[in-house]
Amino acid sequence: ICIPSSLSQRKQITRHLLFCVSTAVIGSLQFGYNTGVINAPYEKVQAFFKNASLERYGKAMDDCSVTVLWNFAVAVFSAGGMVGALGVSPLVNKFGRRKSMILCNTLALIGGGLMGLSGACRSYEMVILGRLVIGVFCGLYTGLTPMYVGELAPTALRGAFGTLHQLGTVIGILIAQILGLEELLGSQALWPLLLALTVLPAVLQSVLLLFCSESPRYLLINLQQEAEALKVLVRLRGHEDVEEDIQEMKDEAEKMAMETKVSVLELFRKSSYRQPIIIAIVMNLSQQLSGINAVFYYSTEIFISAGVTQPVFATIGVGIVNTLCTVISLFLVERAGRRTLQMIGLGVPRSTNPAPPLHAVFVQGQTSVVSYLAILAIFGFVASFEVGPGPIPWFIATELFAQGARPAAVAVGGCTNWTANFLVGLSFRTLLGLCGPYVFIIFFILLVLFFLFTYFWVPETRGRTFEDIATGFEKAVASGPSQPSQTRGVGTLPLSPTEKVAMV
Ligand code: GLC
Repeated sequence: ICIPSSLSQRKQITRHLLFCVSTAVIGSLQFGYNTGVINAPYEKVQAFFKNASLERYGKAMDDCSVTVLWNFAVAVFSAGGMVGALGVSPLVNKFGRRKSMILCNTLALIGGGLMGLSGACRSYEMVILGRLVIGVFCGLYTGLTPMYVGELAPTALRGAFGTLHQLGTVIGILIAQILGLEELLGSQALWPLLLALTVLPAVLQSVLLLFCSESPRYLLINLQQEAEALKVLVRLRGHEDVEEDIQEMKDEAEKMAMETKVSVLELFRKSSYRQPIIIAIVMNLSQQLSGINAVFYYSTEIFISAGVTQPVFATIGVGIVNTLCTVISLFLVERAGRRTLQMIGLGVPRSTNPAPPLHAVFVQGQTSVVSYLAILAIFGFVASFEVGPGPIPWFIATELFAQGARPAAVAVGGCTNWTANFLVGLSFRTLLGLCGPYVFIIFFILLVLFFLFTYFWVPETRGRTFEDIATGFEKAVASGPSQPSQTRGVGTLPLSPTEKVAMV
């Protein structure tokens, strides 16, 4: 299918391209599912921890130890995610994108197997170990999917395709919320099955991956297999006229051949990488430090405080709003651009900040008007998050870097994201205890700072080739402090801090 476009590139979506991308997005679904799955059955799993220790030691674990162990089981997932995110770079450089995804799925089998059998083996250690392994698995996938999808997508549709990772994630969260209902798999008897279900998509995806193409960029730039890359590209685009793409990859390959291998440290040392890596880091921080997972981890509790009689359904409502708004972003990202959507997403929560209505709920008790306001504020907060800060940070590192530095940059961006997720998960309860519902004001201040950062620093990448974006950063560094920013393609390159100071 060729869709005529006002942009210079033609938008080509073939069945094979859709097949490869949908297969990769199963990894995003897994990330979302495993993020959301632990919330619904938490009381049952905690009861299991208690009973298992009673059976083993003849004495039930006290409530405090159960809470500590539970918090550990939750946190270990993000800790695994940090490790997994860092593993992306060595894995894809050695095995390529497609094989890495197949290999990665063995972790889902191990982690899912451990959690699924934990009930029968009466072992809470297996739940914790399983969550750790699944965390590593998800950490790898939050890098692998956006990278593979970004490298396959036609330039003019790279943002829309990139958003599919977040769409897969939010659908995964929603599926977990629904399957976690007590009437389905969230019961005392079935929760191990709920946690083990991650094995099924892993098997399905591994089989489907056998029919997917390797990234043509990896074939040409990393393996120098030009003929194979050409064949794959023709199949993905559905026409023979791929000379422009091949030429762009060749230019990139030539440049990469002149560079030493780009390590994580190199990203901070070399001046042309410094600015894009800071952008990737800050955008990932903006995603997690918006406080989104404080809403996701504690929505049921918040809804109970707000006097909602069916908090589980209100939580599912959050999942539905989350999914719908990601779909909206999918259609907007190639029209409005990444920068604009990121700013809208960061800016709107300032008006839908749930702090004031939440405060009223906590302080004044459950008056219905204020309760509904609190619910609406949370819906608005989640909706604006999915317009920009939800999807964009996941694919921005892929866009800002060319082939040589991309794996290391994706690893750094992903690890930052998981670390911030870990810290919010760990500290939110304490912060809530200290500041009450005003805790959202902390996130509010951070959002303002991230908004300003995006306004001054983040360039538009819509419609630009990887090579063009990377060269843009190099030129910005080479042009020195006295040069004003340059307009390139549809985007504007950011000024370096020294340039800004010089202009002031
Ligand atoms: C993003 C975040 C994830 C969060 C989700 C909510 O994918 O990385 O932590 O749970 O959005 O939709």
